[in-house]
Amino acid sequence: MKKRKVIGFVGTGNMGEALIAGLLKAKFTTPDQVMAFDADGERLRFIQKKYRVKKASDNNYLSSQCDPLILCVKPQSVKEVIEEMADSLDPSKLLISIAAGVPLYAIETYARKQLRLIRVMPNINVLVQEGASAIASGNLATDEDLKLAKAIFDCVGRSITIHEPLMDAVTGLSGSGPAYVFLVIEALTDAGVYLGMTRAQALTLVTQTVLGSVKLLSDTGEHPVLLREKVTSPGGTTAAGLYKLEEGGLRKIFIDAVIAATQKSKELGDKLKQ
Ligand SMILES: NC(=O)c1ccc[n+]([C@@H]2O[C@H](COP(=O)([O-])OP(=O)(O)OC[C@H]3O[C@@H](n4cnc5c(N)ncnc54)[C@H](OP(=O)(O)O)[C@@H]3O)[C@@H](O)[C@H]2O)c1
Repeated sequence: MKKRKVIGFVGTGNMGEALIAGLLKAKFTTPDQVMAFDADGERLRFIQKKYRVKKASDNNYLSSQCDPLILCVKPQSVKEVIEEMADSLDPSKLLISIAAGVPLYAIETYARKQLRLIRVMPNINVLVQEGASAIASGNLATDEDLKLAKAIFDCVGRSITIHEPLMDAVTGLSGSGPAYVFLVIEALTDAGVYLGMTRAQALTLVTQTVLGSVKLLSDTGEHPVLLREKVTSPGGTTAAGLYKLEEGGLRKIFIDAVIAATQKSKELGDKLKQ
């Protein structure tokens, strides 16, 4: 079997740590095949100690030792980091960026050269290895690169591959999605409180209802429409509740919300062109 190369993490904040933790937990790689650098030295020492991974002295050393490199810094740091690393980057190694809203062409512009790039938009649920990630290939990335990126992000949830122009829509749907779900949970909890339950009682019932519904959907593989019909008896309580949700325009409001978030993501990306 071909020996796997060392995976390099540029930035070990929330997302970098979640990815390292997920890869090790899934036994996708071993700690000695992971190297990281973070501008925050204390944070880097913490990660090195907690996961027993290797520590690089700077981003250029990291780049010289690792393939692939996974860029996990904030979007506003990407320009500075890529400019700093430009000399050690070339198409012989794969660079995977998870920076939200940063298009692949921007990374090549900062590096002033073409690179083998993959862009991934994960979501916060990677923190519990249940993330939803969308993966888009750059022009020079190979099928093997795409397979590797998918294998990495499947260690922290589930992933799909898409074309880069759909990344704004991914941001609006699954990137922002956890916030929509939390708001729905809050709203249902408020309903329980309105009807006399304590907040803790209502939150327990709502959280378990959401968790159980997702598990039922995922375990049975049935379409959500069929599952909804199963709990909707003619003339019953659920039908009465669903009528109110439709009357309030629930479907339209969710579609509008995702369109608005997608538009905002596009606007933020357009600012990088200026
Ligand atoms: N959080 C999410 O839900 C989510 C979802 C999708 C995508 N993303 C993307 O994931 C990326 C990381 O987000 P995060 O939440 O993990 O951010 P974070 O917690 O702030 O982590 C970024 C880390 O990178 C370090 N850093 C800054 N400059 C650096 C440099 N030159 N070299 C190496 N490390 C450097 C930061 O150190 P300092 O603190 O000292 O600056 C920090 O420890 C972002 O681009 C974000 O858009 C996040």
